[in-house]
Amino acid sequence: MTQTEVASPPRSEAKELSVGKPIDRVDGTAKTTGTARFSAEYPYPDLAHAALVHATVARGRITAIDTADASAVEGVLAVLTHENAPALKPALSPSPLNLSSMVSGTSLDYLNTDEVHWNGQPVAVVVAETLDAARHAALLVRVTYDQLPATVDFAAEEKNATPVKGDLISPGEEKKGDAEAALAAAPVSVDLRFTTPPYHHNAIEPHATTAAWDGDRLTVHDATQSIDWVRKHLALRFGVPVAGVRVIAPYVGGGFGGKGSVWAGTILAAMAARVTGRPVRMVLTRESIYHTVGGRTPSAQRVALGADADGRMTALIHTSVSRIGRIGGRPEPVTAASGHLYDAATILLQQNIVELDLLPNTFMRAPGESIGTFALEAAVDELAGELGLDPIELRMRNEPAKNPLDGKDFSNRMLREAYALGAEKFGWSRRTPQPGSMRDGRWLVGMGVASAYHPPVQLNANITVRLSVDGTVVVRCGFQEMGMGGATVQGQIAADALGVPLASVKVEYGDSELPIAPMAGGATQTASVATALLAACDKLKRSMLALARRSGESPLRGQRLDRLEARDGGLYQIGKPGVGEKYTDILGRAGRPSVDAAVGSDTGLGAVAGQVRFMTKFLRDRRRWVKAATGAHFCEVRVDPDTGEVRVSRWVGSFDVGTVINPKTASSQLRGGIVMGIGMAMSEQTLIDPRTGRIMNPSLSEYHVPVHADVPPIEIHYLNEPDPTMPLGLRGLGEVGITGVAAALANAVHHATGRRVRDLPITLDKLL
Ligand code: MOS
Repeated sequence: MTQTEVASPPRSEAKELSVGKPIDRVDGTAKTTGTARFSAEYPYPDLAHAALVHATVARGRITAIDTADASAVEGVLAVLTHENAPALKPALSPSPLNLSSMVSGTSLDYLNTDEVHWNGQPVAVVVAETLDAARHAALLVRVTYDQLPATVDFAAEEKNATPVKGDLISPGEEKKGDAEAALAAAPVSVDLRFTTPPYHHNAIEPHATTAAWDGDRLTVHDATQSIDWVRKHLALRFGVPVAGVRVIAPYVGGGFGGKGSVWAGTILAAMAARVTGRPVRMVLTRESIYHTVGGRTPSAQRVALGADADGRMTALIHTSVSRIGRIGGRPEPVTAASGHLYDAATILLQQNIVELDLLPNTFMRAPGESIGTFALEAAVDELAGELGLDPIELRMRNEPAKNPLDGKDFSNRMLREAYALGAEKFGWSRRTPQPGSMRDGRWLVGMGVASAYHPPVQLNANITVRLSVDGTVVVRCGFQEMGMGGATVQGQIAADALGVPLASVKVEYGDSELPIAPMAGGATQTASVATALLAACDKLKRSMLALARRSGESPLRGQRLDRLEARDGGLYQIGKPGVGEKYTDILGRAGRPSVDAAVGSDTGLGAVAGQVRFMTKFLRDRRRWVKAATGAHFCEVRVDPDTGEVRVSRWVGSFDVGTVINPKTASSQLRGGIVMGIGMAMSEQTLIDPRTGRIMNPSLSEYHVPVHADVPPIEIHYLNEPDPTMPLGLRGLGEVGITGVAAALANAVHHATGRRVRDLPITLDKLL
């Protein structure tokens, strides 16, 4: 254990804890019984419906747009185009931090320009009395274009890529020593090329927005991972005060990054409502999602590894080419994990980018690391083959004690232990090393491993907690719940911090009227909210003690908080059963209905101070420690030797994610990441016509996400060792599950067949 930054509250052995229990999601019943209301399910009187019209060229100008037929459809209220749409403020905010490229999915001024920047760009919106009328009329809008040459072919443009400059969020080139020279001199080496295709988001709940104006006040129900970003971006675009925009999203049906930024549907639904003076609902079709919501960048990667005869790495080179759009997107940190996983003597990590005339990329579960760990971890498997070493043994020989790139301390690292635990649970010792040597009847059996890696971050969160005389606790915090269990785990944390039963804690979230919290993304939300929540609970206990002290009769008179623990609904002396008082008694005697505690402020100096505190901590953390959730994936596949059909038959994931607040929701998150990784490895790919930039498979019938039959039983195991630098020792685990998955699967396929597939997805044609 290194330094403890976040003091855990003192507690006696006897205290009953909620943290660590596999509690059902508090929102689970509402979701499974259909009472949960999603963004497209809010009834409004006079509700109108909107549909998008998409450009059919990759780049150019609109020369004419004929809306006569569309307007003539019965029930059509308006057809908005660049010729009649109201002017909005530009998408790019003048903020010095310039987060606009993340907040707004693109920098395009939708319907305020005749320019076309990608094939599929929204060029008109039809508003009608019914969804059917809107969608039908949208098909009747005729657009003519003056086409311009467009660059849309990633494979052809790869050679024109330029180096990514580093920024606060993702690094530029990183190096230690002369890796190329060390590679050339290495007695054993591999030098490999990998490619991954573009992927698209397919959350169960499609992107949907219901927008209603009342004068200059706007209420929006939006399928979003960030109510705060939606609120601020809409206020910016429509030139109205932020306080007048309310975003409500208590239930979100999956996001995975695709609902992180603000995309066209949200902005245009608000515009349509403004123009028609009616509440407007815009539910995107699956095809419209592909055309307007970014996905994952494709990549071409080189991983070259050199080792001495004992398998000690002397060189690790990982370079990548990925893409952004000309009108938005951010480089995904493809090589980000590669500087932290192996104790190589020399390292070179370098990322390159091309800008294409396509819809920009966006966050998609572990952006960068998910595809980067495929290449790195498959290459490590190949190096193990060259060395004749077991792939776990090779990893253990290169497991670093300090961060390989710069010698910084790890906050805590238990990847070695994660492999040991996973190997035992999986039965790795039963694996015979020779490819093709294991069979089950006619099926070839293969076993593969790979490492998972994702760093945790804490963002600034504001929160209030109220304790009432009836014993209830209300936590108010504008975070998002897209099914991860956020409200459940924060309830557990509050229950333990205050020593009350979970059932008496209510967590309010998903509404921009609540104190501001960060987006649900980047595996940041649980730790970020927990930090503020623990601080607020401390404040609350201080207030309760002060209140008790003011009264002559309280057994807490003269007591100090550090000698007390919160349990049984009150404050009690540590180790002295019964000496203390219930909160309800303290409040009752004081004649107070409730006591509030607030942490952070949404406005004015308080907000500035919060940001400064956050940045200071962020930078200090980064200077001192390298921290990450890590894990070991164990995959078993069965391959039909005649058809090349691959069935994933078993999966074990063993993780070091710090403290596990709720093993049930945590396992669901990690399982979900693995399932998404199986899709990435086996079947998913967005097919883009290299001549026209048109997406050719924008539907679930042509873009193959894994179905139940593709997913084996997935066992999840934890080390459950707290990270001493994180609140309650938790690291966040929304992203780490997918990292390494594609490599473990590709390595298992190689073990079964002797074939290395370095170009995802591993479709059966590549095995024949
Ligand atoms: Mo995650 S890709 O930040 O939703």
